[in-house]
Amino acid sequence: MNPSSRLSPPVLVSRSRARVPAAYSDDIEQLLISAPRIRSRVTEMARVIAEDYHGKRLVVVALLNGTILFLAYLIRHFEFPLSMDLIGVSSYRGGTSSGELEYTKRLKLDLRDQHVLVVDDILDTGKTLCAVKAELARQHPASLRTCVLLDKPDGRKTDCEADYVGFIVPHLFVVGYGLDYDERYRNLPFVGVLRPHVYGPGSAP
Ligand code: XMP
Repeated sequence: MNPSSRLSPPVLVSRSRARVPAAYSDDIEQLLISAPRIRSRVTEMARVIAEDYHGKRLVVVALLNGTILFLAYLIRHFEFPLSMDLIGVSSYRGGTSSGELEYTKRLKLDLRDQHVLVVDDILDTGKTLCAVKAELARQHPASLRTCVLLDKPDGRKTDCEADYVGFIVPHLFVVGYGLDYDERYRNLPFVGVLRPHVYGPGSAP
């Protein structure tokens, strides 16, 4: 299968006209992508992906934990049988900045000869998606594609790109819609930029 060209290109998001809800305005400086805009784009992504995999048995592999909201909204649009599994990956924070990954949850499904779609929250340096793709490719799937809600191309340190991209965002630390800072903000229905006082001077995430 060739990557789809039917998905309209992702738009670079710089600011939303929507106001940050009062309950979050102490912590969130700017609302980047509103909830309706996310819903509309994810619905479009789901429609194109469903067309691309028409008649094929799809295995969705999602990365924990940041994909939870995106994944739930995406796959509820797929009106065909699919299998799904979750993979847990985190980068070693303590001793090294080498970008090595630690698997906190392994896959249960056998991917051999399956059409696999990897779902992640955000593509930044690309190290995570690159490493996960390489790991899954060892199982010899029939096809292997990737889908991300957000893409931060200015952070890229690998040649890894995603096949389906929701939005392109500036090189800022974003939270909400599954994305966290210190395990907070995952529940926000929008994507926003944190105020610097939340992570403290000199300790930007
Ligand atoms: P890489 O750099 O490997 O990053 O492409 C992928 C993972 O890093 C996390 N990440 C972020 N998390 N706001 C977040 O909440 C961000 O702006 C951000 N940038 C990267 C995320 O877990 C992602 O899967």
